[in-house]
Amino acid sequence: MIEIRSIDERRKAIALATPNKHKSAMGQFMTPSVIARFMASMFNSLAGKNIKLLDAGAGIGSLTAAFTERAACEKANSLDCEAWELDPKLHEPLAATLKACGDLMEENAGKFSSLIRSEDFILAFTDLFAKEKMVAPTHAILNPPYKKISSASAHRHALRECGIETANLYSAFVALALTALTDQGELVAITPRSFCNGPYFRPFRELILAKSALVQIHVFESRTQAFQGDEVLQENVIFHLVKGAKQGSVIVSSSEDATFSDLRTKTTSFDEIVLANDREKIFHLATEEDKAETTAAMERYSYTLEDLGLGVSTGPVVDFRMRDHLCAEAGSDRAPMVHSHHFEAGFVVHPKFEAKKPNFIQVNDETRKWLMPTGCYVVVRRLSSKEERRRIVPAVFTPDAATGDLVGFDNKTNIVHQSKKGMDRDVAKGMAIYLGSTFADQWLRKFSGHTQVNAGDLRALRYPDIKTLAAWGQKIDIALPSQEEIDQLVGGI
Ligand SMILES: C[S@@+](CC[C@H](N)C(=O)[O-])C[C@H]1O[C@@H](n2cnc3c(N)ncnc32)[C@H](O)[C@@H]1O
Repeated sequence: MIEIRSIDERRKAIALATPNKHKSAMGQFMTPSVIARFMASMFNSLAGKNIKLLDAGAGIGSLTAAFTERAACEKANSLDCEAWELDPKLHEPLAATLKACGDLMEENAGKFSSLIRSEDFILAFTDLFAKEKMVAPTHAILNPPYKKISSASAHRHALRECGIETANLYSAFVALALTALTDQGELVAITPRSFCNGPYFRPFRELILAKSALVQIHVFESRTQAFQGDEVLQENVIFHLVKGAKQGSVIVSSSEDATFSDLRTKTTSFDEIVLANDREKIFHLATEEDKAETTAAMERYSYTLEDLGLGVSTGPVVDFRMRDHLCAEAGSDRAPMVHSHHFEAGFVVHPKFEAKKPNFIQVNDETRKWLMPTGCYVVVRRLSSKEERRRIVPAVFTPDAATGDLVGFDNKTNIVHQSKKGMDRDVAKGMAIYLGSTFADQWLRKFSGHTQVNAGDLRALRYPDIKTLAAWGQKIDIALPSQEEIDQLVGGI
């Protein structure tokens, strides 16, 4: 065994000695050995193999150490590690870990070699890849840094050269490693769960699905909890991909936290994870208990928005682009501008002068194409914070709230509509009841790892039929009933 205890101690000592600012600038949240070992255990047999391991963003080498333990124990023939770490302060402890890895392999009659690469993984690896100078890894084990990468950055440009379009460092690391792997090469990574849905990560999900088979995905049921020591509030997943393999069933495992003391595992068909014909390719990560409940619920409410003749889009008015046309007061050439601060008891109440945002938008040649015909819509807030009780916050917009023929909906909302026009009033009210239910909220949480509610999330939900929605809608007038009453109507999961 490698002195894992000493790795954990060194990890903690380095974390304590490193200023938080530096840690967050570098995305330095190191993997505890218990998680590293769990990750290493996900790979297929290593016995007798000649392995070329990639550990990109290696930190002090905790993941490589856990992998080496397994390789040595299973008598891999040889292990050649390439550890990429940008922060020179970590090179010494990383070298010490690699030295221990070498000793362990040799004790077990295996060959070992290693290389620390101190360049920026994205910039240097894409360059090697483009020049075909890269030796393809057979295995990759990753806990990549998390950070947004802007579309004009050198990182984004370098990735594009390799055909990778993604907006976060973590998805970039995984996409690049997966692209580089040999055929049948394996990758295990721990990342935030945010890639599982949302439009920004759709190209990344498509890349994963096009290049590999998803073999296992592990969900931490409670937030954080993987990197408690480093106090990172993230919902994490661990996944195992095999490049070029045929997609079969998927193991979905879960545990409350990083001790894995309550590890639950089940095998699920792939189309329960990514629904057939889902253009968004959302990864639904329901665990064992969730599944039975959700399956029962899906049988009850099985209609897509499309089945109901409805659609959903992001609110078209981006306020900073329309700044010159927004105004505080009403006027004959002005349409109401609806933001989520107009929500009150499940309805849009307009105007609201106490809120600082402009209540109206001028109707002219520049703005007209961003406005919608007035009618009955359901407006759903897009952003919420982790602390908020509900993620889906809906409100009915009716023409009673508006003057004129057109209405502007803010981009930080989603609009449920009928062919980009309003829908039947009762259906709109019934839809707000459904979206306001604990049931719909919990359902969304099962596949959404982030706090945004995007149009794609609402498209992925399943709904009651139109008649049920209209019947619910008839029960209310200008305010949604209490949460308890809504939940009684809709039913629980
Ligand atoms: C989330 S930490 C994980 C470290 C290690 N893999 C582990 O699991 O303990 C990510 C590591 O990537 C390094 N890093 C950040 N940006 C990098 C880049 N562009 N290229 C290479 N390494 C980078 C950080 O310094 C940090 O050590």
